[in-house]
Amino acid sequence: MIRSLLFVPGDSPRKFEKALACSADALILDLEDSVAAANKSAARAAALQMLQQPRGDQQLFVRVNALDSGMLLGDLQAVMAGRPDGIMLPKCGGAQDVARLGHYLDAFEVSAGLDAGSTSILPIVTETPEALLNLKGYENCGPRLWGLLWGAEDLASAIGATANRHADGQYRGPFRLARDLCLLAATAAGVVPIDTVYTDFRDIEGLTQETTQGRIDGFAAKAAIHPAQCDAINAAFRPTAEELAWAQAVLQALRDAPSGGVASLAGKMIDRPHELQAKRILGGL
Ligand code: COA
Ligand code: MG
Repeated sequence: MIRSLLFVPGDSPRKFEKALACSADALILDLEDSVAAANKSAARAAALQMLQQPRGDQQLFVRVNALDSGMLLGDLQAVMAGRPDGIMLPKCGGAQDVARLGHYLDAFEVSAGLDAGSTSILPIVTETPEALLNLKGYENCGPRLWGLLWGAEDLASAIGATANRHADGQYRGPFRLARDLCLLAATAAGVVPIDTVYTDFRDIEGLTQETTQGRIDGFAAKAAIHPAQCDAINAAFRPTAEELAWAQAVLQALRDAPSGGVASLAGKMIDRPHELQAKRILGGL
C-alpha cells in the first residue's frame, strides 16, 4: 500500500541515494519544477540511471514536464527504457490530457518492449483554474489512472493569490476547494486520492496534523518533499487503536444483529456504510 510519495529532484543522484534509504513507499523522480531549465537534459539522463539501479520495494514514478512545455515527449523518450512504474503529469487540464499521455505511453511501451498498459498515470489535477473547473471525467480514464494529486503552489501563482494559507496554517478558500474537489474526483473515479505536499519540512508536528486531517476526510496517501516527512506520513495513515476497536465492534454488532443489516453500537445506528468503513480500516493495517 502506497501512503508516502517522496519527490526527488531528477538531477540529484545524491538525494536519490538518500531517498532509497528512507521510508517512502514511492519516489517521484522530478524532471519538472525542481529542475532548473539549464539542467533539464542532465536530469533526464540522471533519472534514467536512477531507474536502472536495482529496485527494492519502492515504486518509482517520473514527473515529466507538462504537455504544453514542449519537453514531455523528450522526457518520455529518455526515461521509458528505465521501466518507471508510472508517470506523473503536472498541470493536467482534465481527463483528455490523461488520454493523450496514455496514447503516448502506448507507443513508448511498444518501443521499449514493455507490457502494454504497464505504466500507470498519476496526474496533478488542480494546478490551474481551468483544471479545477474540469475535474469531472476522470472516472472514464481507464486502468492506467492510478491516483489524483492536488497542488496548491502552482494554483496560487496561476490565480494571483499572494498566500495559500491563513495565519493559523489552514488553507484559504480556493485551495480548500481544490483539495476537496480532488478528493471527490479521485473517489468518484475509484483511484487513490493523494494529499499535497507540506512545504514546511522542519515542522513534523504540523505535517502530522495535516496528514491526519486528510486521512479523516478520505485521502489515502500524501506527497512529501523531504525524507524526514515519510515516517510521519506513514504513521498518520495507520489506523489508530481506537479506530481498530470501533471497526471490530461494528462488524461484531452487525454479526450479532437479528437482521444482520442494521444494529446499534453505543447508542448510534450502524448499517452498510459503517460496515464498509470498518472493513476499510481493518484493510489498512
Ligand atoms: N529526497 C532525497 N533526499 C533529500 C530530499 C529529497 N526530497 N530532501 C533532502 N534530502 C537530503 C539532503 O540531500 C540531505 O542529505 P545530505 O546532507 O547528505 O546531502 C538530507 O536529506 C537533509 O537535507 P536538509 O539539509 O534537511 O535539506 P536541504 O536544504 O538539503 O533540502 C530541499 C531542502 C527543499 C531543497 C529538499 O528537501 C528538496 O530538494 N526537496 C524536493 C523538492 C522537490 O522535488 N520539489 C518538487 C515537488 S513540490
Ligand atoms: Mg509545480
